[in-house]
Amino acid sequence: MCGIVGYLGTKERVGLLLEGLKELEYRGYDSAGLALLGEGAPLQVFKTSGKISALEHLVQGVRTQGLGVGIAHTRWATHGKPTQENAHPHVYQHSALVHNGIIENYALLKAQLEQKGHLFSSQTDSEVVVHLFEDMLETTPANNVDQALQVFKNTIAQLEGAYAILLISARFPTCIFYAKNHSPLILATGKEGVYFASAQNALVGHAQQMVRLGEGSVGVLDWQHPIDLNRLGVVQPIAQDCQQSSKEGFSTFMEKEIYEQPKVLSLLGRLCGDRVCLELPEGFLEGISCISISACGTSYHAGLVGKYLIESLARVRVQVELASEYRYANPATQEGELFIAISQSGESADTLEALRLAKALGLKTLSLCNTQNSSMAGMADALLLTHAGLERSVASTKAFASQVLVLWLLALQLAQERHALYPNTLQVQMQALQGSLQAMQEGLEWQSQVRTLSAQILERDLKGYFFMGRGVFYPLALEGALKLKEIAYVHAQGYASAEMKHGPIALADSSLLSTTLLPQHLLFAKNLSNVEELRARDSLIFALSPIKLEEATFQIQTRAYDHYMPEFFHMLVILQLFALEMAQLKGLDVDKPRNLAKSVTVE
Ligand code: AGP
Repeated sequence: MCGIVGYLGTKERVGLLLEGLKELEYRGYDSAGLALLGEGAPLQVFKTSGKISALEHLVQGVRTQGLGVGIAHTRWATHGKPTQENAHPHVYQHSALVHNGIIENYALLKAQLEQKGHLFSSQTDSEVVVHLFEDMLETTPANNVDQALQVFKNTIAQLEGAYAILLISARFPTCIFYAKNHSPLILATGKEGVYFASAQNALVGHAQQMVRLGEGSVGVLDWQHPIDLNRLGVVQPIAQDCQQSSKEGFSTFMEKEIYEQPKVLSLLGRLCGDRVCLELPEGFLEGISCISISACGTSYHAGLVGKYLIESLARVRVQVELASEYRYANPATQEGELFIAISQSGESADTLEALRLAKALGLKTLSLCNTQNSSMAGMADALLLTHAGLERSVASTKAFASQVLVLWLLALQLAQERHALYPNTLQVQMQALQGSLQAMQEGLEWQSQVRTLSAQILERDLKGYFFMGRGVFYPLALEGALKLKEIAYVHAQGYASAEMKHGPIALADSSLLSTTLLPQHLLFAKNLSNVEELRARDSLIFALSPIKLEEATFQIQTRAYDHYMPEFFHMLVILQLFALEMAQLKGLDVDKPRNLAKSVTVE
């Protein structure tokens, strides 16, 4: 997703802006640029398609001195291909602008400006805004910053859609105009200046205090008039632990984050003796009649796992909805309904809007989030942080595992409060929790065998990859398929095992690989029947099971556990490693897959 960095002050700006963009690189992008302006220094704009390294090459030897402003941007293409012309900043006459979001009424505004003689150099929606600002300055001249701010506000007032905007203008070389609506934008202060960023990790080492600008924020940073952050929102420290993490010897951030799972998945502080005690407000879980869960992508898969766990353990009805569908579905609700939004980044536009809708409908809301200080973290009635640490790889791994763990704990706490579990059942669950952490560690042991199998699989001329499972292993199959799609770029599809007979099995032949999850403690025999149905039609079988399968073309004979949840976490690691090894063998960019963004802040 697009990344924005801005700075007003006396530090050298080129290095600072580039460093900030690199911290946002993991969000996914396809072009980059920056603009500089200072007292006595003209407006300079540098932008290019491709990686930040190409921008670094472009600005080689460029350095700033003294007081000035700078804005920078990494673009994830929404309108128009990833070209140099479509890269930000967009320039018109004396001004330059960067934007994250979608201006939904840009076509009408663009047509109106073209009728006035404006010529556009890009296909983007964003470029319209800088033209509009300059056009309004024609009709409403601004002789000082306050008048310019009013013109900027009038410009923003004409926009419909989501935006985080920074604009600089040669008329006001020590000012940055900003606007924020449904796309994240942080304003922060540090020793030698004032900063903007899409996410706080871009400012670590520079800024100390930040506010997350609220919806509808419009304003100007003016060096002549120091700002009071307290007037702009809740002031928070920049979390120092979100610094640029190194790969620490791993080949990719994804591999590192897979290996971090046993460490970050901790029960610390969430068990009080043999009872679960999550950090929720007193009585928060009382009187709940049903639960709605809403999320996107991998977080949605975690929600599906949560459904099985909460319904089976706490006997509370759960429905899980894709956030992008929920927000436009005019959902029916009921008295006592709890709405849970799940998001690793806390910035997914669809999930944020689904949560906003749930709040507007009067539902009690809970956020499960991995990013403190994110837009979502402060929106719900209660927040459960998943504490997986900064996840840099676009493909989510440790965040998913921690989401499932927290949902499992939530199911148990609900079950405790509703007296829905016999003491011995609770005891079994506690043992399974502890066993799952160990099972993840043991899943890592399969990496070299997974690499060998991946090479053998890639030698086959396969046209399709199925992933199959039952119960909680059905969303695990969906997640395994998504991992392979997003980093190995293969057509993979997850199914509930029995669903094969209702159509997909028509695709079964020797060019299809069916990765089948056959836990010992959940419907093993039923899964085996589905494997046999596929084998009878020549599909290749990649079996994950502690039980040796004669029918399997390939198998990881997983460790045996005494509960299906340790099997779940054990197989999760293997599926993550499978996607990683397949992508690496294909020579692909594991951490920054094509077309993807780490947090999708547009619809
Ligand atoms: C996960 O591997 C994907 N990158 C993607 O599906 C992601 O889970 C989805 O965009 C939701 O992101 P969020 O959890 O930050 O809201």
